[in-house]
Amino acid sequence: MKIKNGQIYLEDVPVTELAKTYGTPTYVYEENRIRCNFRRALKAFQKYYPNFRFFYAIKANNNLAIAHILRQEGAGIDAASVNEILLAKKLGLGGTDVMFSGNFLSDDDIRQGLESGVIFNLDDISTLPRVLKFGKPEFLSFRLNPGYGQCEVGDFVCNGGPDAKFGVHPDQIMDAYRLAKEAGITRFGAHMMPGSCVRDPEYFRFITELLMDNIGKVGKELNINFEFIDLGGGLGIPYKPGDHVLDIDEAARLVSEVFTEKIAEYGLQPPRLMMEPARYFVGDAGYIVGTVHSIKDSYKRIIGTDVSMNTLARPAMYGAYHHIYVNGREDEERKPVGLCGQVCENTDFWVRDRPLPENISLGDLIVVENAGAYGYAMSYQYNGRLKPAEVIVNGNQHWLARERETIEDLVRNVTVPGHLLK
Ligand code: LLP
Repeated sequence: MKIKNGQIYLEDVPVTELAKTYGTPTYVYEENRIRCNFRRALKAFQKYYPNFRFFYAIKANNNLAIAHILRQEGAGIDAASVNEILLAKKLGLGGTDVMFSGNFLSDDDIRQGLESGVIFNLDDISTLPRVLKFGKPEFLSFRLNPGYGQCEVGDFVCNGGPDAKFGVHPDQIMDAYRLAKEAGITRFGAHMMPGSCVRDPEYFRFITELLMDNIGKVGKELNINFEFIDLGGGLGIPYKPGDHVLDIDEAARLVSEVFTEKIAEYGLQPPRLMMEPARYFVGDAGYIVGTVHSIKDSYKRIIGTDVSMNTLARPAMYGAYHHIYVNGREDEERKPVGLCGQVCENTDFWVRDRPLPENISLGDLIVVENAGAYGYAMSYQYNGRLKPAEVIVNGNQHWLARERETIEDLVRNVTVPGHLLK
């Protein structure tokens, strides 16, 4: 994003042009920013541990255009569901380029996961016999819950530790791999995902040490040669102005240092090191362009926009902060006001008291920052509000990447029994 003569540009496209072409609200993604984010992180990790690869956790933004950018950069796909494996297939990715990390799977999920031939990453020891009922995966890993998690989004997002629903307990991890080995499985990896949006490099060192101490013992005792170790995602981004960025080079250095140390300590053959972030690649590359439609002066001044909780769920769900720019007014005096969307719920009053340009007016365009991860992917249709359009910008070019929904999308799967139509 840039501001030139007061006008906001996403890459080199004025937001006024985007709003005119696609309407609002619209998610807009800067292609070059995604590429820069990916390359910066890859360079850092490969500098300290050359046998390193990223998988992209497609749950954060499953627009295929976005996923293709990351595929072009060399990422594999982390799939949370069978449908995400199928999305990966649409990108031309399968086999060892895709990892299936579902949780609390149904038999049907297991059967389809197995048939897809991707790496199967099991969330619990009890899933193994259920998998074996349908067949033997060639390549298997377990997701360890190392007993610790950290997250800057809110308590509910923490994916590790005793209160998380994810992963195998450390006391069960040896048995899990033993059973898998006894069942004749020959290729192994190991995985964890204990946190999201962390900007402290030391966290990544700490969780790597936890994982390696558990996995190292397994490797040694069962004589398992792990082909990869996957540290999950969690690379954080700053959401509030003034928040520091994650020192990615330092995170990579600390992780590689302890990783290499632990490989030597447990006598493991050096595996591929992997991570599967999403937010770090796409979070700050995505924006929502919205319009101010109404302004109310009642108990407080409230600015009404078309960026509602159904368009961006994170503030209402987690109390998450998203910075807002107002096109043409960033240099003006500011006054604390509220800002909301158009949904009939008070959680849609998602900005309570924030200094916004004093003369903000009907028809102004707002730009909501850091909406590229868990933005559109978590949008919904409540109140008959439709999902927005998605657009990619690169330089001064722009392309529609997903059409705005219409009323037809609201009734697409609905059937009304005949007697109700009389
Ligand atoms: N791998 C697994 C197994 C995951 O469950 C996730 C995210 C990731 C990787 C990617 O994590 P990241 O690098 O983006 O931190 N909806 C929340 C975030 C939930 C994270 C879910 N798992 C939010 O809006 O902040």
